[in-house]
Parts: sequence; C-alpha cells; structure tokens
Amino acid sequence: MIYLDHNATTPLDERVFEAMQPYLKSFYGNPSALYRIGRLSRSAVETAREQVAALAGVSPSQVLFTSGGTESNNLALNSIKSHMRLLISSIEHPSVTEPAERFRNRSCSVDILAVDENGLFDRESFERCCSDRPDFASLILANNETGVIQSIAEWAGLLREQSVIVHTDAVQAAGKMPLAFNALNVQLMSISSHKIYGPKGCGALIIEKGIEPEPLQLGGGQEQGYRAGTENVAAIVGFGKAAELALSEMTQWRNQMLNLRQLLEQGLAELNATIFSQAVERLPNTVQFGIDGVDGEMLLMQLDKKGFAVSSGSACASGGGMPSPVLTAIGIAQDLAKSALRVSLGKANTEADIAEFIQSLKTILNRT
Ligand SMILES: Cc1ncc(COP(=O)(O)O)c(C=O)c1O
Repeated sequence: MIYLDHNATTPLDERVFEAMQPYLKSFYGNPSALYRIGRLSRSAVETAREQVAALAGVSPSQVLFTSGGTESNNLALNSIKSHMRLLISSIEHPSVTEPAERFRNRSCSVDILAVDENGLFDRESFERCCSDRPDFASLILANNETGVIQSIAEWAGLLREQSVIVHTDAVQAAGKMPLAFNALNVQLMSISSHKIYGPKGCGALIIEKGIEPEPLQLGGGQEQGYRAGTENVAAIVGFGKAAELALSEMTQWRNQMLNLRQLLEQGLAELNATIFSQAVERLPNTVQFGIDGVDGEMLLMQLDKKGFAVSSGSACASGGGMPSPVLTAIGIAQDLAKSALRVSLGKANTEADIAEFIQSLKTILNRT
C-alpha cells in the first residue's frame, strides 16, 4: 500500500513507539500517586508537557493534555458564556462548527467569516462580522482539506485590539510549520498527536494564563482542574516524543514534502486537474484537486484497489455524498467539488510513490 492520507492520520513513528512501550506495561503507576512508580509516571507526563510546549513555543504550564484535537476544540469553545457573540470561519472543522451551533441554540449569536476564491479569509466579510464586536473567535490556522494557511497573527491581532478572545485550530499546522503561540496573537490553540506521527487519542489545548474555559468533565484535579480523569500516560509520552521529533526534523520534512508536492502537481497538471487554492500558501504536504467529469468517491475506490490510500475530502465528511463544505465555501462548482481528492504526503513517501500514483491515475482515467 502507498499511504497518501497523512492529514487524516499518520503512522506511529518507530521512535515514538519505543518511547511509549515502558509506560504501556512496566511503568503503570498513576501519575497522581505519591509513591515511586506514581512519581515516575508524573515525571514522564511533565517531560512530555515540556516537549509539547517547545513545539508550541509556550511554557509547560500552558499545555493542557486532552484526548485529541476534537476535545481541545470543544474545550476551547467552552470558554463561551451565554449571550456572547461568536465568530467562526466558513472552513472550520466540525469539532468547531458543531459546538458553535450548540452555543447558537443557547442564546449566543454566531457570525460566519467567509473565505475568498482561494480559501483565504475575506476582509470585507471580516469587517462586516466585526461591526458588532464579537466576544470570542475561533479561526483555523491551516485547513485540513486544501492545506491553505491563514495569516492568523494578523486577523487575531485585529480581533485582540477589540478585546476578543481568539482560539485557533492548529491541528493540521502543528509539526508542519513553525508555531509560535505568542506571535500568533491567540489565547487558545488546539493541537493533536496523531497528525504528527504520535498515537491517536491524545492532544493538547494551549492556553494563555487568565483564560478559563469551563471543563468538559469533572471529577478530579488533573490538568489544573480543566480535564478530570487519570492521564493516558503512554499516549502523552508518545505525543511528547512526536512533538520533539516534529520540531527537530521540521526543516528536513518541509523540504522533502515540497519536492514531492512539486512532482505530484506536475503530474496532475498533465491530467488537466484543477488544484484548489494553488495560488496561495498551503501546507507543503497537502494537494487537493478535482478532475472534470470524474466522481471523486469512485476514483478513491479505484485507487484503493490499486493500493493507494487517499481521501475524497475531510475523512470525517467522506461517504456523505455531499460536496465538501470547504470547497463549497470557496465557491467551487458542485460537480468539480464532487470530483475532489485530497493527497496528503508524509515522511515515508518517495518520488517513486508519486510516479506510481500518477501512472495509476492515468490508467484509471484512461489517459495513458
Ligand atoms: C483541522 C482539524 N481539527 C480538528 C481535528 C480533530 O482532531 P482529532 O482527530 O485529534 O480529534 C482534525 C482531524 O482531522 C482536523 O483536521
């Protein structure tokens, strides 16, 4: 199999697996326990906190471990109180849009920031949304489908001038571009372990001192009282190791991805594919494209038969038969949006993988 769906999830890095192993079996102490084996687990969790803090450019006390990006987004939005005005963009992940909808049903108002034809936040729409000052904004840093990177520092800076609390979903950005929390001007930021070659079911919410989201679960003092429940020590250790590796290997990773992406886009151009948001800055590993007259889900299944794993949009939305809401928000025509496939590259991919992928695509489309 040639795996080309790293924005959905990544395989566990061997070095991460090795770091986790002792905490799956030998070091099983509860990190809240005071005796030695408990203290060993506590110390492992705190080391991981430092590693994740380094990736996010914050101090360890600003890192709250969660069960992943979804929980981090939900917890961040739980800072919203009734009757607040909320601003989100039209290209947020469902783990932001669905909690936002819930707040709308609880007497909050929700404004939607539109994007332009490239998938970048639209200035006019921003000004309209801010004519009545929002209280809280959640704006995605890098989109999971198109890979488009927003100038969050700039938008968040404008919002903070108006004392708006700003959260960013950096789940796809983490490990793929430098992340300096303070320079981004946000007060809350979500990241996830399994997008950076760490284990699934682990993530973090980065939080500025003084911001106090309502905990989603109660019943213990863990994670400064924001997330009750015995910590998933092995997963946290893995997340920490993955964060350390992502930071130290980022330049190498980016160069490798940019080279592969260029080859992929050259091959797609020969097939007359439309590459979405190609004109703007995107994650170096992400290419979303459409081919006129082709059904994306069918193409995905045919590629699967040939041993390629790709996505027909966001993994969460696939199988729904509807065009991707992100492509709809960009204004891509329904038929072209329904033909969309997303290739997201990862560190095991090679130039030969890309050549094979393009060749298989040509064969399936009968364009050899
Ligand atoms: C942009 C974005 N936010 C949030 C999530 C959810 O993260 P997790 O799978 O860790 O819950 C994803 C996962 O695909 C994502 O792409």
